[in-house]
Amino acid sequence: MALDARERLIVALDLPSVQAAESMVSRLGESVLFYKIGYQLAFAGGLPFAAGVIAAGKQVFLDLKLHDIGNTVTKGVESVAQLGATFLTVHGYPQTMKAAVEGKRGSTLRILAVTVLTSYDDADLAAAGYDMSVGELAAARAQQARDTGIDGLVCSAEETARLRDIAGPGMVLVTPGIRPAGSASGDQKRIMTPSRAIEAGADYLVVGRPVVEAPDPKKAAEAIVSEIEQATR
Ligand code: C5P
Repeated sequence: MALDARERLIVALDLPSVQAAESMVSRLGESVLFYKIGYQLAFAGGLPFAAGVIAAGKQVFLDLKLHDIGNTVTKGVESVAQLGATFLTVHGYPQTMKAAVEGKRGSTLRILAVTVLTSYDDADLAAAGYDMSVGELAAARAQQARDTGIDGLVCSAEETARLRDIAGPGMVLVTPGIRPAGSASGDQKRIMTPSRAIEAGADYLVVGRPVVEAPDPKKAAEAIVSEIEQATR
């Protein structure tokens, strides 16, 4: 995939209001081409805001992690596709993934599956009724995602190499938990620098706090773009 370094950085707009998000997007200017909008902003006016960001020529990743009966997922995905978003997440259940693939048909929307939430360990899975380890379930779901025609996976940087083997070259791997050397890890436990994540096979890096909480967000974004550029040379 021939993506420029800048196209591979997705900044997570984990902010409480459209006003805060607008001000961040305008501070970042031409440095950032791709934004992720999650629950916090989406449920505070973030969907009309997303349409505006797209109209201004940026790409948007709606991190809504959908999961419901098939018909509801298909209809929801059809609406997201009309918004013009580039990526949408769904949970990696076979029925949900199949419904999402149906809903995006005929659009440019790409569906990303979340295999297993990174906050889950084997004990959490057992409590939820699964008789499998996190690694086994993530691998099984990655395989099902590929077989269903899902476009990509969200995965931690350390899973990237293993999931690439299952996903093959055609699926995109989108990786959060990125921390430039020297920045605070926050609540992320399994972190990687931008260059190591790219070397491990990530296509896109999702970065939130290291950019939006930086004293100079634009400078922080530019530093990450340069690091991606160096890693892809
Ligand atoms: O601020 P930070 O860089 O940690 O933000 C990472 C973003 O990626 C957040 O929006 C978070 O919800 C998201 N994410 C994550 N880990 C996952 C999936 C999504 O951190 N496994």
